[in-house]
Amino acid sequence: KSIVILISGRGSNMEAIVRAGIPGARIAAVISNRPGAEGLAFAAARDIATEVVDHTAYPDRERFDAALAEAIDRHTPDLVVLAGFMRVLTADFVRHYAGRLINIHPSLLPAFGGLHTHRRALEAGVRVHGATVHYVTPELDCGPIVVQAVVPVLPDDTEAELAARVLAEEHRIYPQAVRWIIAGRVRLDGARAEVLAAPE
Ligand code: GRF
Repeated sequence: KSIVILISGRGSNMEAIVRAGIPGARIAAVISNRPGAEGLAFAAARDIATEVVDHTAYPDRERFDAALAEAIDRHTPDLVVLAGFMRVLTADFVRHYAGRLINIHPSLLPAFGGLHTHRRALEAGVRVHGATVHYVTPELDCGPIVVQAVVPVLPDDTEAELAARVLAEEHRIYPQAVRWIIAGRVRLDGARAEVLAAPE
């Protein structure tokens, strides 16, 4: 099977997936909307095809998304993985990849969708926080949940400390979720995703 990973920056989740390895699949390409994305160098060093579709070169979201989809579809992916991809995607784009587009979000959804999740978690005084891997649907940060990881929020946490604690969990659960999906163990059932037991 074929996987395309989209990044915008550091790419540490992409790196975690590449390092973990996904049985039965290859990472066909890593595509960034930012030419300077740090993660591109890691992918290139691993002989993974890299590509940039620079959103600033397009007059609107529709045309950017169309160009992005064209770049992605050249690799005929079974799964498209958003890994710190910081562009909101159009409903048409999302529908085109229905059931094969996933994202990782740094909070326990449905709490704290959107940006600055760690700061907002600290402000809200929650005692637990975490990360969510979910299928992407047109409504932002709302699709069927595949897996979540929980971390404690400690009394004197800074935003950076909390972010690092969550990120370590992201690097564990994102490769896990991708493996499950490639192995055919995730069944979509309306607004929910069910993870099936591993075959004996
Ligand atoms: C991660 O925290 C991810 O959950 C969020 O953006 C960050 C990306 O980090 N969407 P990286 O580019 O994978 O290092």
